[in-house]
Amino acid sequence: MRIAVVGCGYVVDDYLRTLPEHPEITLVGVTDLDESRSRRVAARYGVRCFATTEELLADPSVELVVNLTHPQTHHEISRAALLAGKHVYSEKPLSLAAEDAQDLAALARERGLMLSGAPCNLLGASWAAVRRLVRDGAIGRTRVIYAELDDNPIYLMHPEEWRSESGTPWPFKNEYEVGCTLEHAAYHVAALAALFGPVREMTSFASCLVPDKSPVPLDPPTTPDFSVACLTFDNGVVARLTCSIVATYDHKVRLIGDEGEVVLDEVWHNRSPVSLERFGQMSLNARKLRAVRHNPLLGRLVGVGGRNVRYDVPAPVQASEPESQAPRGRGLSFTTRLKGALRRRQMTSLDFLLGISDMEQARREGRDPLITPEFLLHVSEVTLAISSGDSEPRTIVPPHSFTPLALDREEGTAWRPAEPGPLAAVTDRVLVALHRRGGGSGDSPSAHQPGAHGTEVGAGSR
Ligand SMILES: NC(=O)c1ccc[n+]([C@@H]2O[C@H](COP(=O)([O-])OP(=O)(O)OC[C@H]3O[C@@H](n4cnc5c(N)ncnc54)[C@H](O)[C@@H]3O)[C@@H](O)[C@H]2O)c1
Repeated sequence: MRIAVVGCGYVVDDYLRTLPEHPEITLVGVTDLDESRSRRVAARYGVRCFATTEELLADPSVELVVNLTHPQTHHEISRAALLAGKHVYSEKPLSLAAEDAQDLAALARERGLMLSGAPCNLLGASWAAVRRLVRDGAIGRTRVIYAELDDNPIYLMHPEEWRSESGTPWPFKNEYEVGCTLEHAAYHVAALAALFGPVREMTSFASCLVPDKSPVPLDPPTTPDFSVACLTFDNGVVARLTCSIVATYDHKVRLIGDEGEVVLDEVWHNRSPVSLERFGQMSLNARKLRAVRHNPLLGRLVGVGGRNVRYDVPAPVQASEPESQAPRGRGLSFTTRLKGALRRRQMTSLDFLLGISDMEQARREGRDPLITPEFLLHVSEVTLAISSGDSEPRTIVPPHSFTPLALDREEGTAWRPAEPGPLAAVTDRVLVALHRRGGGSGDSPSAHQPGAHGTEVGAGSR
């Protein structure tokens, strides 16, 4: 697929870093309103610098346009690209107005063009493993999901000084004005909707908790920097989703069922650790102990938090390995590359080209991309609704739905039940007795029940 990028800002390096891992994608050129940016990016990646978007769209060798402009211009640029006969991959959200997102989805269908977009983290291996665990019954019936996207009180972290690998400043003003919910909620919403279906109904609350966070005036001045939403998915599962740039870093998602809990540690990593705890009386009781909660090793001994699963479920699209996502390019020192590699191992690592790679495969196979326009429209509607919520909680029914995504194959394993360890039954009895307070460890009837869930502790460990 021959692609060209419109918008050479902070995120462009994240996209182009993994190009060498994707021989199916060829970068033809780039453009930006700010010519100094497009020149720098074109030189760094050795491609053509188009003077304008019009010039880029007029080039017949460009098959797909990657829209990396601000959310405010997503609709305008994507629309122009579709009208010029190009496939489009858009950064999130599809548009800042639900009707404009609908317009793009309809236009792409009408023209027989592919329209897909971010986020594509759901195409990676960790989410494939989570979906398999849930579908295989590893946590029983899913009852509730807690999804966090707290990205630190970033206003205390001098974001005005942050730079991308090619030296572009992080657009803190635009990020504050658009708001962290619109920037981040979709990573969870899309991944969960891919698993549980469309959001049937939602209630949300959003507020600006730190109005004086910016060194320059903002327009609007008080876009929410904190939001909470409760989403009811089509199958009845409820997720509580939090987004903020006020609370300390937490990008976890916890899926809690009536037999266990799955935790994906970092939603911005294609191979995030995923753990599975099969509930037992022991682990449920043990987490009441402060020492267990504060000491992961102790917790581990009694099954709290379960074990990381070594998943070998095939991801819908093969992501590049974190090591290969270290900064590349001419003139980069060894230290810079090492720092990048460490960051990707320890912090975040998304292959931003996964969605585009899938579009190329979809074209070859004559099918829709896995992330369909209708899915993106629905996710955009949900995130727009959360971020535009105010301090009065309100209930919304998203108007558009989508048919299930054709994501996963039934191969590979994500978990295997394991036999309980020899100490499990004894520890189980002690903890049950402690929990029930009265009598000694042998007094509790449930401690003697055959097949108490405690026998399951350690399941999934390998
Ligand atoms: N910054 C991040 O860490 C990050 C991460 C993931 C996704 N994103 C998403 O990527 C998109 C871009 O974010 P960014 O951080 O790179 O923003 P940015 O402000 O750094 O870059 C946007 C670029 O688009 C250019 N542009 C704007 N309108 C244009 C037009 N009409 N024609 C041509 N160029 C135009 C701007 O000049 C600017 O260089 C946003 O949708 C954002 O949500 C950002």
